[in-house]
Amino acid sequence: MKITIGSDHGAVELKDAMKKVLAEMEIEVNDIGTFGADSVDYPDIAQKVCAEVVSGKSERGIVLCGTGIGISIAANKIHGIRCALCNDVYSAKKSREHNDANVLAMGGRVLGFGLAEEIVRAWISSEFEGGRHECRINKISALEKNKC
Ligand code: RB5
Repeated sequence: MKITIGSDHGAVELKDAMKKVLAEMEIEVNDIGTFGADSVDYPDIAQKVCAEVVSGKSERGIVLCGTGIGISIAANKIHGIRCALCNDVYSAKKSREHNDANVLAMGGRVLGFGLAEEIVRAWISSEFEGGRHECRINKISALEKNKC
């Protein structure tokens, strides 16, 4: 699996820590930045990560900002993206099983590295269950096309 990861200045340390976790899981990682403490705008980061996912260059994405809120809102504006902001392991697992989330958002100023690692491991290893959840995903796609 290939994952594209990106963060604003509020989560660079979390990004570096999660890159180590992903490497341990033998996942190929594409890091689109940011790489320092200088302020950047999280919608730009969301756009870069999600472009890789929508194009199929990466199977999934991880987006990080201070709270995870702004970057998850931005990511969910992009057609084809189902971004789940997860601050706990249960939500991370269910976001895959029920929502087929293709992007995970977390907050660098919210989570400790240990919990974030558990969230990432659960999110990576959980699969979409399909079945009754499939038609709900299709309804989300229809909402993107304003067919509600
Ligand atoms: C940046 O200061 C901060 O607003 C951002 O990282 C994020 O928390 C926004 O939702």
